[in-house]
Amino acid sequence: MCGIVCYIGRQPALPILVEGLKRLEYRGYDSSGLAIHNGSEVQLVRELGPIRNLERKLGSSQWSGTSGIAHTRWATHGAPSEENAHPHGDCRGEIYVAHNGIIENYRELKSDLERRGHCFRSQTDTEVLAHLIEEFQDSSLEEATQQALERVIGTYGLAILSRKFPDKLVVARRGSPIILGIGAGETLAASDVSALLRHTRKVIYLQDGEIAVLEQDRFRILSHQQKWIRRSPETVEWDSEAAEMQGYPHFMLKEIHEQPEAIQNAMRGRLLWEEGTAKLGGLEAVADRLRQARHMIIVSCGSSYFAGLLGRYVLERLTSLSVEVELASEFRYRKLNFRKGTVVLAISQSGETADTLAAIREAKRKGALVLGLVNVVGSTLTRETDAGVYNHAGPEIGVASTKTFISQMVILHLIALFLGRQQEVPIAEGQRIQEGLQKLPDQVRHILSRQDRISDLARRYCGYHHFFYLGRKYNYPVALEGALKLKEIAYLHAEGYAAGEMKHGPLALIDEEFPSVCIVPRDSSYEKMVSNVQEIKARRGKVIALTSEQDGDICSLADEVFPLPSNLEILTPILAVVPLQLFAYYAALHRGCEIDRPRNLAKSVTVE
Ligand code: AGP
Repeated sequence: MCGIVCYIGRQPALPILVEGLKRLEYRGYDSSGLAIHNGSEVQLVRELGPIRNLERKLGSSQWSGTSGIAHTRWATHGAPSEENAHPHGDCRGEIYVAHNGIIENYRELKSDLERRGHCFRSQTDTEVLAHLIEEFQDSSLEEATQQALERVIGTYGLAILSRKFPDKLVVARRGSPIILGIGAGETLAASDVSALLRHTRKVIYLQDGEIAVLEQDRFRILSHQQKWIRRSPETVEWDSEAAEMQGYPHFMLKEIHEQPEAIQNAMRGRLLWEEGTAKLGGLEAVADRLRQARHMIIVSCGSSYFAGLLGRYVLERLTSLSVEVELASEFRYRKLNFRKGTVVLAISQSGETADTLAAIREAKRKGALVLGLVNVVGSTLTRETDAGVYNHAGPEIGVASTKTFISQMVILHLIALFLGRQQEVPIAEGQRIQEGLQKLPDQVRHILSRQDRISDLARRYCGYHHFFYLGRKYNYPVALEGALKLKEIAYLHAEGYAAGEMKHGPLALIDEEFPSVCIVPRDSSYEKMVSNVQEIKARRGKVIALTSEQDGDICSLADEVFPLPSNLEILTPILAVVPLQLFAYYAALHRGCEIDRPRNLAKSVTVE
């Protein structure tokens, strides 16, 4: 999410920073900016849109300053605009800050700073950092930073430049990467190693809680225990192309591996343990109307639609809402009866999907309260809904949705928890769900650590031309998603089905050439799933089973077993989807398909 690059050395900083930003543009591209110290003043430029807009604005500027910080933004707080672009300054134009991450307590900090006379110019969470550091203006820049950060709750990768200290830059890290680049007579830092490699391969990865001071010929690191420490640089072997993907061969695989973080980001600052509920700031303004709602219609397309299908099961389980899920492209053809208090929830990664936008416009015409669950901040959908929740999953580059799908599932659980706790869900159950949610990042990491096993499975099975993906209840939507992944990435025919439907027709297709991927966790539908697997086996169909069982019936029945960690039944789809994504990825890889940009598809579908 977002990109930072900074430079202090002997050369003009401007071209180095612009080139570094271009390397980071894939991380965020709604606006960019930079601040450069020319020895006496700080020059600032910011612009909406991609880096080329910033370059256009700079024109033939020949700034001579040899230190500066730069940022490319993926909006989280405040729509994409020039005033929300980084770097952000303090009241006096002395301190400039570029930030990746989320300051969770920025509202409290901002009100406090406003009471103390600080004047804010943007809607971002980041700007509080510049004003907080300003509060400690009598200290050195690193001390002021350290004191300011003690008051901050949240995550940051941070770069700071001060007019008062032309010979240094300060960077800091908590939860969002900062890497130092150690050159000859120059020191750099960036949120991603790819922005450093044209200058140096000697790097130091800052650890959480550390602050570093960068000077032309040296760097210093302050540990989280406030001690100056030594650390030797390590040498990066990748080239810059590979570095953009942080060593992953494809964005899709990188994004699959970012899922533990995407789950954490979806939940960050949103779980209230004491009350066993979720807090969703974006829904606060419509909380009363939501409380009175009796009927919800979820509209979305593709993977977002499947997340909506899971949302229906979860919302109906935890609340008294009756929930319908509608494909956005079919919404206009339905004569949906909008009862009093109908809420429409649109789910979209991009926030630009034409059918989803058309559906919410229709819903608004009919007087519904319209909410959004969106990843791209400031997208059209976020501007046209009454309220909503952001995924905070960061940019997703691969056409196939992975980390945003998992994030949508998590947030739908949070919405259900938030509404359910206002109705009949007791506090203890709310806390039990929270415990389950908090286990997810590590459990997903565990599944990812076994990707070689899935690669092997995919290699052995990618010669088949047809697949069924079967699940029941919470895992039925995930079966649909697994099949979609295989279709779009590996160009293999795959049908997602509710397992109970097999006997009503599809079973006729089963033979030894038609394998089925079955999601069979030990849950309330386990016995029925085992019977469905038996029916397939009786017709010589091959079965790949995902199960949390160690040695139950399913393990002896299935041809292949991939283990799933145990968690609450309601949360198993969030785990089950990960091996399915990996299976599609490796099947595509073994078949030599174009993975990040599959044929005939686009990341954002802006036509109806
Ligand atoms: C799935 O991998 C696709 N990327 C696609 O189905 C996608 O979910 C659909 O086009 C909807 O996009 P949206 O979430 O941006 O609205």
